Amino acid sequence: MTDLPIIEPFRIKSVEPLRMTTRSEREAALAAADGNLFRIAAEDVLIDLLTDSGTGAMSAEQWAAVMRGDESYAGARSYKRFERAVQDLMGFEQVIPTHQGRAAEHLLFQTLVKPGQVVPNNTHFDTTRANVEDAGGEARDLPCSESANTAGRDPFKGNMNLEALAELLEEEGERVPLVMITLTNNAGGGQPVSLSNLRAVRALCDKYDKPLYIDACRFAENAWMVREREPEARGRSVREIVAETFALADGCTMSAKKDGLANIGGFLALRDLELATAIRRRLVVTEGFPTYGGMAGRDLEAVAQGLAEVVDEDYLQYRHASIAYVAKRLEERGVPVVEPPGGHAIFLDAARFLPHLAPALFPGQALAIELYLEGGLRTCEIGSLMLGRNDEQGRLIPARHELVRLAIPRRTYTQSHMDYVIEIVTRVHARAEGIAGVEILEEPPVLRHFSARMGRVGTARV
Ligand code: F0G
Repeated sequence: MTDLPIIEPFRIKSVEPLRMTTRSEREAALAAADGNLFRIAAEDVLIDLLTDSGTGAMSAEQWAAVMRGDESYAGARSYKRFERAVQDLMGFEQVIPTHQGRAAEHLLFQTLVKPGQVVPNNTHFDTTRANVEDAGGEARDLPCSESANTAGRDPFKGNMNLEALAELLEEEGERVPLVMITLTNNAGGGQPVSLSNLRAVRALCDKYDKPLYIDACRFAENAWMVREREPEARGRSVREIVAETFALADGCTMSAKKDGLANIGGFLALRDLELATAIRRRLVVTEGFPTYGGMAGRDLEAVAQGLAEVVDEDYLQYRHASIAYVAKRLEERGVPVVEPPGGHAIFLDAARFLPHLAPALFPGQALAIELYLEGGLRTCEIGSLMLGRNDEQGRLIPARHELVRLAIPRRTYTQSHMDYVIEIVTRVHARAEGIAGVEILEEPPVLRHFSARMGRVGTARV
């Protein structure tokens, strides 16, 4: 007998229509948005894979919890429930709610990082980097060497480079206020970090007396992949793996818009009461009173319930199966994808997809534009547009990879949507040679990918 298919472990109670567009409508929308997919109206998008952040569907239990939200300014019941959910799952005593992940980063780095200090991370996400820099620090990425090869099949390409971390701590340790590790490694392809790598990072932190903080956005996906890929974890429950993960850290920053299964929210959780007190002093100035931070009572409830649902193993199995399904079909058709598929997205390798475009012609953005024009897919470049820098002469220092991320919102799209996505990517791949590059016409000084104006360059017509 063949194995039963892995199905969506839910049925649909509420639907939201999708709006079909014609190619000429999409051309007009793209021109009006100056080639920037962040500037396109959502109603002009058919399948929105821009991000998995805040875009998922909430469960019936979450909506019910929303109705139980206690909107009291101080001491709300909803805060208690939220605090307990975080404590039970992650084991951190101090729980500080924020409106989303970057606010937690801001509070942590403003409190711990002094100008001239260095924060190591397996790979900083763009907002994490921006917040380290905003505090006057240097955000240093130390990805493992296996992550350099997007086609390699190492199971833990999200790992921290332990030799590089040891060297940094040995040689510049006095400049390092904390060590961060991102689960999963989003900018590096949604790749997981192994428990053994985390343990080794902890041991280095102990040796050099540094606190370790986890960027926990996708902790449940990481734990699932640990269970699937790390021999010592086979057969263990996801909850146990999650508990062991956080037991190795001094605290975490969290965007509840990912593995909190909510549309908004986040938190900073830690063990050190003194540090938590200092952070709460800032929290009241920038976010809100300590028992709601940046969130409404109903959002605290939705996140508390979401944290319980996200470690459900049927849910995690389905989520990973649906991402692996898309990656496998694309690979069979010769489309270059980052292997093995990570936890929240399929990453196309635009450098191999469009080998005729140099990094300065932003192959990732060119590909993202074509996917929109071909079939109304909205995806996100994670390459030299997002992560590249210009040197003093204005020349591009390229990013490590030129990727396009097809981020899959949680519990939102069905398998037939995924089949449509596979078909659109395949069609663009079939005409890859004729695809023109992209130039930046105008850009802001930071986080340029959100608002830059762009045009097409080269002779090819789209
Ligand atoms: N850390 C990681 C690894 C992230 O992926 C994100 C957000 C954040 C921190 C910041 O959280 O958005 O709640 O402030 N990533 C989204 C994405 C935006 O599309 O990957 P936030």
